[in-house]
Amino acid sequence: MSAEPILRVRNLVAFHGDVQALWDVSFEASPGELVVLLGGNGGGKTTTIRAISGMLRPAGGSVEFKGAPIHGVASRRIVELGIGHVPEGRALFPQMSVRENLLLGAYLPGPHRRRRENLEKVFSLFPVLKARHRQSAGTLSGGEQQMCAIGRGLMSEPSLLMLDEPSLGLAPILVEEIFRIIADIRKEGVTVLLVEQHVEQALEVADHAFILADGRTVGKGTGAELLANPEVRKAYLSV
Ligand SMILES: Nc1ncnc2c1ncn2[C@@H]1O[C@H](COP(=O)(O)OP(=O)(O)OP(=O)(O)O)[C@@H](O)[C@H]1O
Ligand SMILES: [Mg+2]
Repeated sequence: MSAEPILRVRNLVAFHGDVQALWDVSFEASPGELVVLLGGNGGGKTTTIRAISGMLRPAGGSVEFKGAPIHGVASRRIVELGIGHVPEGRALFPQMSVRENLLLGAYLPGPHRRRRENLEKVFSLFPVLKARHRQSAGTLSGGEQQMCAIGRGLMSEPSLLMLDEPSLGLAPILVEEIFRIIADIRKEGVTVLLVEQHVEQALEVADHAFILADGRTVGKGTGAELLANPEVRKAYLSV
């Protein structure tokens, strides 16, 4: 990779209680890249993202962000350093309005001061959220809820945005829409770490991708390399 990585994960080990989920996960992302994590169910993708965002304390290995170690750092501080996390399953507050959910992403002092302009940016990215900003988030469609979750992630002004299966359960046309939005986010210079089950579409736009299986990194390449790799096609594209 050309530039110094913005994110470098090395030999990550993590447990859920007594259950070891990560044994040896290593990958990196250069500034401005779109990096995809692939792998079957239970491979450790969500655990890896949670370990990076400080929601889970890694038991071994290291995570460096902008050259400084962040493993073991509190999740609030990690958000402050510039890592946004759009969790699996969206995790919106259904009774609260769309606007209130978005503002929850701006709880740190800097983003809080700039929340109005950032809200306008999110609304320009997702006009449907502007139209529905007073509506409770629980009444949004699945695709709109995902947009709201991504918008909330952007409200913290991340330089790295991690998206855990943003297109899960969405109709194909909305999956396209999510990929379009990810492209727009990248145009702003944000580095994106994406976990995606739509492997073909993800590899088409990925700069690099890493394959996780049983808590280990078992493959890597550029998006184009992995798309052309017969084993990858067989395992993840069923062709
Ligand atoms: N809270 C938990 N308690 C115990 N084990 C867990 C917990 N969360 C995840 N695991 C286990 O850790 C392993 C990795 O799970 P993880 O959710 O990271 O996988 P994933 O790659 O995100 O899978 P999926 O594609 O299904 O979302 C799995 O074996 C899973 O059963
Ligand atoms: Mg997962």
